[in-house]
Amino acid sequence: MRTVAINASRKYDVVIGQGLLQNLGKMISEVTSGRTAIIVSDDNVFPLYGSTVKEQLLSAGFEITEFVFLSGENSKNLDTYGKLLNTMSEKHLTRNDVVVALGGGVVGDLAGFAAATYQRGTGFVQVPTSLLAAVDSSVGGKTAVDLPSGKNQVGAFYQPSLVLCDTDTLKTLPDAEYRNGCAEIIKYAMIEDEALFEKIKATPIKDQYEEIIEICVKIKQLYVESDEFDVGKRMFLNFGHTIGHCVEACSNYEIPHGQGVAIGMVAITKAAWKKGFCSLELCEKLNELIEYYGLPTKLPFTAEEMFGASLSDKKNFGKKMRLIVPESIGKCRIETIGQDDFMTWLKSGGAQ
Ligand SMILES: NC(=O)c1ccc[n+]([C@@H]2O[C@H](COP(=O)([O-])OP(=O)(O)OC[C@H]3O[C@@H](n4cnc5c(N)ncnc54)[C@H](O)[C@@H]3O)[C@@H](O)[C@H]2O)c1
Ligand SMILES: [Zn+2]
Repeated sequence: MRTVAINASRKYDVVIGQGLLQNLGKMISEVTSGRTAIIVSDDNVFPLYGSTVKEQLLSAGFEITEFVFLSGENSKNLDTYGKLLNTMSEKHLTRNDVVVALGGGVVGDLAGFAAATYQRGTGFVQVPTSLLAAVDSSVGGKTAVDLPSGKNQVGAFYQPSLVLCDTDTLKTLPDAEYRNGCAEIIKYAMIEDEALFEKIKATPIKDQYEEIIEICVKIKQLYVESDEFDVGKRMFLNFGHTIGHCVEACSNYEIPHGQGVAIGMVAITKAAWKKGFCSLELCEKLNELIEYYGLPTKLPFTAEEMFGASLSDKKNFGKKMRLIVPESIGKCRIETIGQDDFMTWLKSGGAQ
């Protein structure tokens, strides 16, 4: 078992290890004063782990309510959020009670936003069960739901009181979801940690979950503690994401986030080489690692198509764009460009 203590506007532990669900009731009772818990989960994860979590909370003296919704990004919306709030209200949850998010990033983001806003903030515990949620979304306090006009358009910064990452749950994760998580881990290696890059090149991530998740959480910690509200340094976590988001949008979100990020990292690194920021060798090493994890490397859309997607991304609207550009493994820089220049970056990145 490993523990990373996060020191943000709220202090909390991220506990990583095998068999943690078997001790969940006790650990959650230590961070909350209320004795009612609502388990929020999706219809893939709840049948797998819901009964263990329920038994644990019951034996620790909690009264339990559950809220299980249809899995997938399409559920991360105002409708599900409203239903969750109404369930919390019907069950008379108070500010002292606790929302337990059992699932991937969709569950964590939605449950977290409900916890942040119900009665101006209730207790909140993250139990990430996807690799992406373990290394990324469960730590750092970003919570949100989507609007029809865009992802994560309504949300709040709201840190959990505890993150409990039981690596045993990752055994049931579908292979495609495993690879999506791997893309984010490669991102951490590229922005911060050459040793991590070598470690996941030498041994598959799934054979060393505990250690890799701890390393990634510590990297995320660095960025969150120095820029909790995302006005500066946290931007580095967007490496591969600007082009990645264009790819996702152009595919109508048929291409999952992890694959978009993988393609985006390869493209921005190729462009960085063409523009003299890094070596060809860096491009080749990144390509190799991304292929090793079964992730795509080729841009499936034209520069025009992706440029169009960047224009309709509200985050970019009328602004200078800030690209995270690699210099070497573990070291990136911020390049501020005019929006028009983005076309040359896309073309340098290999887009037709
Ligand atoms: N808050 C943040 O900082 C942050 C960061 C990155 C991503 N996100 C958000 O996270 C979401 C993506 O997260 P995700 O990739 O975990 O998606 P997800 O929650 O949809 O999970 C992916 C799939 O895996 C299934 N699943 C999860 N754990 C499982 C397990 N142990 N066994 C079997 N199936 C399991 C889910 O039911 C789902 O079908 C997006 O909405 C994204 O915006 C948030
Ligand atoms: Zn991401």
